[in-house]
Amino acid sequence: MVPLYLHLQAFGPFAGEQKLDFTQLGPNPLFLINGPTGAGKSTLLDAICFALYGETTGDEKDPRSLRSDLADPSLVARVVFGFRLGGKVYEIQRQPAQRVPRTRGSGLREIGTEGVMLDLTEATPKVLVAKKAGQITGYVESLTGLKAEQFRKVMVLPQGKFRELLLETSLKREALFAQLFQTDVFRQIELQLQERAKDIRTRREANELQIAGLLEQANIAEEKQLAADIAELTGAETTAKSRRTEAAGRHMQAQRKIEDARRIRAQIEQRDALTAQLAQLEQRQTAVAGQEGGLRQARAAAQLRQLHDGVEQISQRLAQIQARLDGSQSQLEEHTQQLAREKADQATHASAYERTAMLNVECSRLQALFPKAQEWHRQQQRLIALNADLTQVRLALESRTAEQQARLERMADVKQAHQGLQAMVAALPDQSVTVAHNKVRLSERLACDALASRLKALRDEQAAALSEQVTLRDALQSAQREQDRLELAWHQSQASRLAARLQEGLPCPVCGSVSHPAPAPSDEHEISDQMLNQVRRQVQAAGQRLANHEARMAQRARQCDEQQVELDQRQHALGQDAHADLTQLQARFAEQEQQLQASQHARQKLDEGLRLIATLEQDQHTQEQDLAALRTRLQTLSVTHGSQQATLRMLEQELPEHLRSEVQLRLQIEGLTRQIEELTQAWRQAEQTVRQRQDRILGLQSTIAALQEQLAQDTQLHAAAIHKYEQALQRSEFADTGSWQAAQRDEAQCAALQQEIDGYYEALHQTRGRCAELGQALDGVAEPDLEHCLREEQAAATVAQQAEQTWQQLRDRLLALTTLQERLQKISTSSAALDEEYAVYGTLSDVASGRQGSKVSLQRFVLSVLLDDVLIGASLRLRKMSRGRYQLIRREQAGRGASGLDLDVMDEYTGQQRAVATLSGGESFMAALALALGLSDVVQAYAGGIRLDTLFIDEGFGSLDAESLELAIRTLIDLQAGGRTIGIISHVSELKEQMSLRVDVIPDVSGSRICVQAPGLADA
Ligand SMILES: Nc1ncnc2c1ncn2[C@@H]1O[C@H](COP(=O)(O)OP(=O)(O)OP(=O)(O)O)[C@@H](O)[C@H]1O
Ligand SMILES: [Mg+2]
Repeated sequence: MVPLYLHLQAFGPFAGEQKLDFTQLGPNPLFLINGPTGAGKSTLLDAICFALYGETTGDEKDPRSLRSDLADPSLVARVVFGFRLGGKVYEIQRQPAQRVPRTRGSGLREIGTEGVMLDLTEATPKVLVAKKAGQITGYVESLTGLKAEQFRKVMVLPQGKFRELLLETSLKREALFAQLFQTDVFRQIELQLQERAKDIRTRREANELQIAGLLEQANIAEEKQLAADIAELTGAETTAKSRRTEAAGRHMQAQRKIEDARRIRAQIEQRDALTAQLAQLEQRQTAVAGQEGGLRQARAAAQLRQLHDGVEQISQRLAQIQARLDGSQSQLEEHTQQLAREKADQATHASAYERTAMLNVECSRLQALFPKAQEWHRQQQRLIALNADLTQVRLALESRTAEQQARLERMADVKQAHQGLQAMVAALPDQSVTVAHNKVRLSERLACDALASRLKALRDEQAAALSEQVTLRDALQSAQREQDRLELAWHQSQASRLAARLQEGLPCPVCGSVSHPAPAPSDEHEISDQMLNQVRRQVQAAGQRLANHEARMAQRARQCDEQQVELDQRQHALGQDAHADLTQLQARFAEQEQQLQASQHARQKLDEGLRLIATLEQDQHTQEQDLAALRTRLQTLSVTHGSQQATLRMLEQELPEHLRSEVQLRLQIEGLTRQIEELTQAWRQAEQTVRQRQDRILGLQSTIAALQEQLAQDTQLHAAAIHKYEQALQRSEFADTGSWQAAQRDEAQCAALQQEIDGYYEALHQTRGRCAELGQALDGVAEPDLEHCLREEQAAATVAQQAEQTWQQLRDRLLALTTLQERLQKISTSSAALDEEYAVYGTLSDVASGRQGSKVSLQRFVLSVLLDDVLIGASLRLRKMSRGRYQLIRREQAGRGASGLDLDVMDEYTGQQRAVATLSGGESFMAALALALGLSDVVQAYAGGIRLDTLFIDEGFGSLDAESLELAIRTLIDLQAGGRTIGIISHVSELKEQMSLRVDVIPDVSGSRICVQAPGLADA
């Protein structure tokens, strides 16, 4: 650990804030912390110890008493310590429990111990522990590998305590060294060896117990007897086995004999049954012959049935033809009557049809009248058009004549008015220049007024903007305050955020540890990055709003000034009119303008009057020409109208009035044509009906003839069929139709009967065959004695069973003994292997745990070797400091468990070894210093140990004489060249002269101050 800086506030004799920057002293410095008694030198070490472990160097001071009584009550006592360790930079801030003034109201309140530990290696600080002071101590312990007590022994030799390192017990030294050199691994080896040896022993004992148990189970006194028993049993088992085979063979023979007897018995029984069955079948033979006769008759009856069915079919057909013949004859009669009626109808329609010739002549006459009717219509239309033209021309002539009269009167009036207007215009003054000038002035005046009101509005806006500016400024300040508050809270909540992300088994991003026994508790009011960013954005936005607002205000102020200048210039140019009453000004200008408008209007009227007179004169001339043309046209039209009337009258004489219209003519012709068509149609229809009826009658007559012919043929066929049937019946075995009908059977009945007869003959044949077979097989065979056979088999079975039992018992015992023998062999092999293993591990364990050999445990042995190394380094220094008199040595005390780490001093003067406790105060200091330096040397060089690159020595130098002091300092200077930071605390003035690098602690009634003296370095 290399100290980098130490800040103290309201701590011990330091009333205000004091900062000590160790880096000002250069790399690996040897420096003096100097100051008079009670200045606060030891307090600096207290502060470092308190920052790291929450305890002071002496561990006697209550941390509550650390708060400076000299400090301002509002100042919180705290320590900030920065240091480098293992390539990383850490900072610890810690404050002791103390009483501080209440924030609200008067009086004091208690605040607890609090602290923060940060990793400052990277640009962004990482909070390792927040608030929990106890956790910081744990973190520091794991980082340095030292507890507070051990830290005080090897890094800080506190005032009045340095002898502790020298004089502590062997056990305590063992614990300290084990920690410093991290030799726990050797202890682990010891324990594991013990564990292993114990395990082997246990397994070996278990084997012995198992052997005893197995022999007892098998009822054998000792292992040797087992082999003899097995040999004896093997012979007996072989004999029993051959006996068993023999008995089993005899038993099988007896069983086979029983089977043969049973088979012969069954054959005899079967033969008897078949003989009885054959007798029964032979009895049924007569009945079966009767069934065969019945079947033959049924087949003959089936042949006669075909002829009988033929006669029946022809009879049915004859009846059908007769029925159809009767139906056709009655239809013929009906159609003949109908024909007579239709012929009478036909005659009536023929006489009506003769009228159509006359109607056709009338039709032709009417069609010839068509061109005349069209001509009459054309002439009639023309006359109507002439009448209309005449009326129109007459009316036009009348109205034009009236208009002409009115126009003449109006022209006279206009000329008179024009003369009056000419006289008035000559009398009016010219106002046009004045009115034009007035317009310009008025628009300028209105522009000035608008400019003035815009200027006023701008000034009003500016006033309102001023108060808004105040509001925006307030908003920005309050947002900034909120941002400060959240930033602070965010920094404070980093440790709990980190803790929330820790997962058991995954490495901590700060320390890399995969186990997290005491993570920082979650902060209820934790500030998220999002909240912080949001408030930052809010501050930025508020700042932006204020800046924008102020820019707008500045622009508005510029506009006000510019517009004021412009207004002043324009008002000056307007003169009196700039401030005159606007309404009066406008009224005056309006009056002058009205006068101008009236004069302009009169002149306009004069021009219009002139133009009107000219137009009226032109119109008068045109109208007179039109009137003359109209009169000529009226005359022409009257002549044409007379001739047209004469033409029309001539046409009307040739055409009767009801045939003058083309439509009426067409209707007449259409009526006649329709009448002709109807008459023709009726006549043709009647003729067709008569023809169809006659065809139908002819068809019926031919059908009747055909049916009559068929009837005659079928009657002959019927007689022939009856004859054929009767002859066949006479030829058959049947006496009459009755007996024939009785013999009839259908197909299914015949088939069943045939099957029954076939089955009978099959059974008869098979039974006869089987009877003959069995008779042959049993020829000369006597009936066997089954009961005797059974008795013989029973006796053989009992003998075989007994032989089996005897053999099984012998076999089971033999098997059990051979299995036991195998198991005992396996256990013996395992025991031998365990004995071999124990020979190694048991011995190793005994040696490692100090039960054999030097009686020193492995760890203690390792530590004693390390202590020897330490003592070599320490003795080198102590010899120098004591002018060659003393050396530190390890006391050899064989046979005692916890010994091996006790120290003695070898006095060169006496050549004797004695306890370190016998050294004087100054000598003890030198020895302790030498030991601390030796220890730091060896630990530093020992791979796997912890880093001891800093040493503070608080006092003790006062107990040395000048020469010893000189030697001690020389030793330290040598040591410091080895790359370590060494701080010596002393008020000894000689030291002050010898050491240029100094931290002066200056006492004062208002609290001590710190001042770093580093000549040469500070300038650099
Ligand atoms: N709470 C406190 N408020 C103010 N002063 C205190 C407080 N506690 C201790 N002191 C004083 O602060 C000084 C601290 O002494 P410190 O042990 O640091 O002195 P020192 O420089 O090491 O002196 P020495 O050379 O005698 O060892 C002492 O005068 C002590 O009485
Ligand atoms: Mg002191």
